[in-house]
Amino acid sequence: MDLVLTKNFDLPDAFSLPVYEGRGGYSSLKKLFSLKPDEVIEEVKKSGLRGRGGAGFSAGMKWGFIPKNSGKETYLCVNADEGEPGTFKDRALLLKDPHRLIEGTIIGSYAIGCHTAYIYIRGEFFREYKILEQALSEAKAKRYLGENILGSGYDLEIYTHRGAGGYICGEETALIESLEGKRGYPRIKPPFPAIQGLFGCPTAVNNVETVCALPYIIEKGAGAYKKMGTEKSSGTKLFSISGPVNQPGVYEVEMGFPLRKFLQEQAGGLRPGKILKGVIPGGSSMPILNAEEVEQVTLDYESMNKFGTFLGSGGVIVIDEDYCLVKALRILARFYAHESCGQCSPCREGTGWVHKILKRIEEGEGKASDLDLLLDISDNMIGQTICVLADSIAMPTKAFITKFRKEFEDHISLKKCPKTIA
Ligand SMILES: Cc1cc2nc3c(=O)[nH]c(=O)nc-3n(C[C@H](O)[C@H](O)[C@H](O)COP(=O)(O)O)c2cc1C
Ligand code: SF4
Repeated sequence: MDLVLTKNFDLPDAFSLPVYEGRGGYSSLKKLFSLKPDEVIEEVKKSGLRGRGGAGFSAGMKWGFIPKNSGKETYLCVNADEGEPGTFKDRALLLKDPHRLIEGTIIGSYAIGCHTAYIYIRGEFFREYKILEQALSEAKAKRYLGENILGSGYDLEIYTHRGAGGYICGEETALIESLEGKRGYPRIKPPFPAIQGLFGCPTAVNNVETVCALPYIIEKGAGAYKKMGTEKSSGTKLFSISGPVNQPGVYEVEMGFPLRKFLQEQAGGLRPGKILKGVIPGGSSMPILNAEEVEQVTLDYESMNKFGTFLGSGGVIVIDEDYCLVKALRILARFYAHESCGQCSPCREGTGWVHKILKRIEEGEGKASDLDLLLDISDNMIGQTICVLADSIAMPTKAFITKFRKEFEDHISLKKCPKTIA
């Protein structure tokens, strides 16, 4: 397997331009400008690259929806907001390889005919922002950015925009609203950003990791990328792993890599004496897998779907037998209730209600009927709202209760966490 995203992570100064160039950085640009924008889109479609922000939608296809000759500006927005609990892989790319992101942004911008791109970066990522700004000025000084890039006749400016730490601003239409200087409220779709996005113009919103895969695809060709991974999940992917493992961190593996092996080999196995209870595979908004499922599932979109969950953003959260699932879910519910923008009643009311019930169960005041109530509330949240933030707690709630009902029932009947009983 070729390292597509972490190739330079072993170098201490990978973020600097000479080091990036020393490893062949920016070499894809020569080939890029020898292709027509449509040919670039075709190449990315052929590579099978799917968006790494969570939904896994084909990157080339998304770009294909951008109208040509609309008479309006076209924009690329790179989503560096990364706020999903358990997900910290884009942050690693920003810190360690900002020039890869810039090179990828040039490729994406050229493909969709955009001359102004924005990198929307989480406000708390201050160090990452400084590193990115430094990389942008280095790239500009070397004429990789600005007017007539490397004599190609193509012009591009890239601007960073710092968010203020709202999780919802990672949702693509809320991100666009925020970039326009408004409150980060998701928009009703359609119209999709490809038709009416930033400032009412055709816009592509792409995740940092998606964009970082582009230099490899242009340089080595779609075939080389497609050779890695599985039929429907091509290439490699970054996974951030947290929880009671020996080596939490960010790792790049080929799609289709077995999750069990990933826990063992990359994350160094569970800490001594720990027994696996479950794994939330793709950031906190994805349904949990139980220990038996963890043995069978592989890290790709299809396999996750077979087990009723999703690859999401690739934030693998490990939970061991000592950890209380009522508490885990209650903490997640508190997060989503806090981050709901409040536009849709099923989300505004539902996230708070789910949190309130879980809190009372955790505090020993739950009722036997609470579990069915939680399932009912969740069913009434899924698919009923402007964006999927409501689903992001409803889906895990359903999976936690369905797969671990006994633990929740014991908590209710004992009026406290079973683990605290001697
Ligand atoms: C509540 C919410 C938060 C999101 N946060 C992020 C985020 O932090 N980063 C990201 O890339 N995508 C995030 N997304 C997904 C984006 O809406 C969008 O699908 C993604 O940026 C598209 O990029 P991709 O096609 O390259 O995956 C979020 C979605 C929702 C509903
Ligand atoms: S689902 Fe929640 S976060 Fe999304 S738009 Fe509706 S209220 Fe806002």
